[in-house]
Amino acid sequence: MDSHTLVEAAESFGTPIYVYDLPFIHQRLSLLKEMFKDFDFRLAYAVKANFNKDILSILEKENTMVDVVSFGEYKQVRLVGFTPDRIIVNGNCKRKEELEQYVKDGVFSINLDSYEELLRLEKVLSKPIRVSIRVNPDVDAKTHHHIATGLKENKFGVDFDTAAKMIERINTNKMFDFIGLHCHIGSQITEVEPYLEAVVSIKYFAKSMNLKLKVLNLGGGWGIDYGNGKVLDLGDYKQKIFPILKEFDSTIILELGRWIVAPSAYLVARVEYVKRTSSKIFIMLDTGMTHLIRPALYGAKHKIIPLYETKNRKKIKADIVGPICESADTFRKSYTMAEPQEGEYVAICDVGAYGYAMASDYNLIPKPKEIIWNGKELLRSS
Ligand code: LLP
Repeated sequence: MDSHTLVEAAESFGTPIYVYDLPFIHQRLSLLKEMFKDFDFRLAYAVKANFNKDILSILEKENTMVDVVSFGEYKQVRLVGFTPDRIIVNGNCKRKEELEQYVKDGVFSINLDSYEELLRLEKVLSKPIRVSIRVNPDVDAKTHHHIATGLKENKFGVDFDTAAKMIERINTNKMFDFIGLHCHIGSQITEVEPYLEAVVSIKYFAKSMNLKLKVLNLGGGWGIDYGNGKVLDLGDYKQKIFPILKEFDSTIILELGRWIVAPSAYLVARVEYVKRTSSKIFIMLDTGMTHLIRPALYGAKHKIIPLYETKNRKKIKADIVGPICESADTFRKSYTMAEPQEGEYVAICDVGAYGYAMASDYNLIPKPKEIIWNGKELLRSS
């Protein structure tokens, strides 16, 4: 999608808007298919990254699976046509009524997050159900601490000793079909080593228990380049991880979210005005942290590009901020940009994952509209 298309979107629909490049998502899916062509591989797209129905429809038509973490996500994917046997249920705190429904519907797998959850599930078993166990391998994913999930201090999953006890218990109950192990060590991971450590520890565990896993689910987490050149090297991943995956002889599932959708979207905003104080320059946008909270929450640095002619413009160093009554409402600090004029547009990049999905109504500023670019035309998303 080029900048003319983004300006056209801003002018046709008004700002702020999320604009999604759908052909990009198709490209990602093809890349993934090609990469894993020698495996029995399934993508279970992580709905939490972006639950937009037009995006989910693409995945539905491409016959992927989905990973959901709440009943809301479950209802959303059912609405766009995913049948229960294509849905994996994750989450560290599943409600009883919801577990009951997942069993009734016969989802692909309920991924148990704790021994306590196993006991809870036993109480609502009305028919046989496939289950997996989320193990926590105590691995440092080397990412922001808010999105690291594979250390023993994190609330997610169980250690291998607990997993062993759970498997013993599961195997005594004919209502359970134990299909495999699940592991998600974190998000925006840009090094292969943490994955290697995790998968090797799972391999030894499976060997020690003499387990034949139908499914090995390695979660998501593939990091993208947010503009600092740091990105998960997929060649390196293939070289180091694939030989171990082959030893499992299982269906391999990845629950990628960010890698599939993050680079597909832009948050297009209008410059309200440029404010000068005695110590700083602020570029004020009509979008803020309630539309994209990643900078405020994780110190994430998204690239911001001008959608106006920059030739012969003076460059300024400014904080790019929004209208929310919080000082954390800052997208970038001391960012160098050609000085915009009131009414011109900028695009914040790589916002397709955890962008709109994390938006809120705080300050009662309406959420942005979502616009899709299907390669030919711009449309308001349903
Ligand atoms: N599977 C499980 C069990 C997860 O918890 C997650 C993400 C994923 C898969 C997908 O991970 P991905 O491929 O997207 O990295 N809001 C944060 C990210 C939180 C991720 C939560 N879990 C952010 O904006 O960076």
